[in-house]
Amino acid sequence: MPEQFRLGCPSIDTQHELIFAMYHELLRSQQQGEDSYELEFVFLSLNSYAGTHFRHEEEFMRSCGFPGTESHIREHRSLALQVGQLRGRFVLAGSLEEKRAIAGEVAVFLLGWLEHHISVVDRELCDYLLEHHIQSPE
Ligand SMILES: [Fe+2]
Ligand SMILES: [Fe+2]
Repeated sequence: MPEQFRLGCPSIDTQHELIFAMYHELLRSQQQGEDSYELEFVFLSLNSYAGTHFRHEEEFMRSCGFPGTESHIREHRSLALQVGQLRGRFVLAGSLEEKRAIAGEVAVFLLGWLEHHISVVDRELCDYLLEHHIQSPE
C-alpha cells in the first residue's frame, strides 16, 4: 500500500492494506479476463470485508468519543450502499462482458474510496487518536 494511505493506526492500516490488496486483485482479474467465478470471489470478499472494517472503525470511534463519529458513519453507510448496488448489478448481469464492465466500475469506485475516504476521512480519525494518545485495538 502506498505511504500516502498509511495513517499510523496499526489495526486500521492493516485492514486498509487488505482493501488495497482487493483493489489490485480486482484490477488483475478484470484485466486478465478472468471468468465470472474469480470476479465473483473478489466481489464477495469485498462485500463482507467492507462490513467488518466499518464495524471495527465505528465501534472504536464510539468508544473513544471521536467528535466526527456521526458524519464518518454516514460515509460508511453510503460506501456500503454503493458496494451493495454494484454487487446487485453484477449478480443480475447477463454476460461475462457485462460482469467485467461492472468489475471495472468497482475498481474505479474502490480507488475513489482509497483516495477520498481513507486519505481524508479515516485520516481525521487516526490523527485524533494519535493526538490523544489513544491506542487502536487489535
Ligand atoms: Fe472509515
Ligand atoms: Fe477505513
